[in-house]
Amino acid sequence: MTVLITGGAGYIGSHCCVAFLQAGHDIVVLDNLSNATSISLDRIAEITGQKVVYEQADIRDQAKLETILKQHRCSAVVHFAGLKAVGESTKVPLAYYDNNVVGTHRLLSAMANCGVKQMIFSSSATVYGEPQFLPLTEDHPTRAVNPYGRTKLIIEDMLRDVAASDPSWGFGILRYFNPVGAHDSGLIGENPLGIPNNLMPFITQVADGRREQLSVFGNDYDTRDGTGVRDYIHVTDLVEGHLRAHEVLASGSAPSNCFAVNLGTGNGYSVLEMVRAFERASNKEIRFSFAPRRDGDVAECYANTELAHKVLNWKAERDLDAMCRDTWNWVCKNPRGYETAVD
Ligand code: NAD
Ligand code: UD1
Repeated sequence: MTVLITGGAGYIGSHCCVAFLQAGHDIVVLDNLSNATSISLDRIAEITGQKVVYEQADIRDQAKLETILKQHRCSAVVHFAGLKAVGESTKVPLAYYDNNVVGTHRLLSAMANCGVKQMIFSSSATVYGEPQFLPLTEDHPTRAVNPYGRTKLIIEDMLRDVAASDPSWGFGILRYFNPVGAHDSGLIGENPLGIPNNLMPFITQVADGRREQLSVFGNDYDTRDGTGVRDYIHVTDLVEGHLRAHEVLASGSAPSNCFAVNLGTGNGYSVLEMVRAFERASNKEIRFSFAPRRDGDVAECYANTELAHKVLNWKAERDLDAMCRDTWNWVCKNPRGYETAVD
């Protein structure tokens, strides 16, 4: 039986492919390459020594999805495909609803028609909105504050409704905190196009000289040094959580046929702590200046990890230094992303 990995050529998906292949699963990757390159698939093959079965397709193409699910005899889906930039989602919300919500609806419809009834879904801590208490537990109220977050919440609701309609479905909703880092081989990693929105890719581009300095958004938050605090998690730990979620669903040991768990470390680090950690890892100075707060940002956001431990028997293991070291290793080996590997 084969696991279909949608968005498997992307940042988190490519690391997930490695984890699943190394755990002995057969996989098929589906991606439309809207935010990825197929070079990542060659790298997955290089790391694992296994050929990667790949279908270039769009999750909104239901007929093609059905052909792929049947042809590869899929038993489960790990669903990463979607658009993910918060700022962009406020400019082109319909593209987000189409890709994320319509796309997931078509994927579920195809799965229903083919009798494939297990899915792991990439959700986000953004569904909690402004934290009312910390650390965030899974029963914290949800509230989306931008179109991207709303697409994640709508999809979560859709999965809960489908699960309630038929107990033979199984869904694992994984709410990611802030994924960073790269595979320790330096062969796969995050490959952002254009000016990065997120902290870690921006820091790496200051370290490698592409950007002059980092703007630290806000130094007057009620946090230990005034800058925003987040729960950064190594992407390798994150994808191991997916492997566990898949095993739990496949073995029938899930607490219900639709469960949601946080994937974070439970530790919060400030922007300045991230800067210092990256300086240690790269031996480069990260120049920065303080700038006004960014709209929509919260002061602090970090996970309660107890439920993930209980349900998945999983805990993040890699520390901040490993996150920074592996990111820097990836950037040094691929200075401008996949197209520019150096030996
Ligand atoms: P990514 O953009 O690197 O990966 C997404 C992949 O999906 C890309 O390879 C893209 O080409 C593909 N894709 C997009 N739309 C598609 C479509 N309609 N059909 C087929 N393929 C399509 O992003 P990522 O960081 O790896 O994120 C993966 C998932 O995790 C996304 O759903 C994202 O919302 C979610 N997530 C990411 C983060 C993060 O910080 N990276 C945090 C929380 C949640
Ligand atoms: C962002 C998204 C969130 C998504 C998450 C995935 C926004 C508002 N939120 O979260 O929905 O789930 O990515 O990883 O985009 N920072 C700087 N300077 C920068 C960039 C960031 O100071 O150039 C600060 C931010 O203010 C924040 C921290 O770094 O305090 C982390 O920012 P970022 O990496 O963008 O992640 P989030 O805002 O947590």
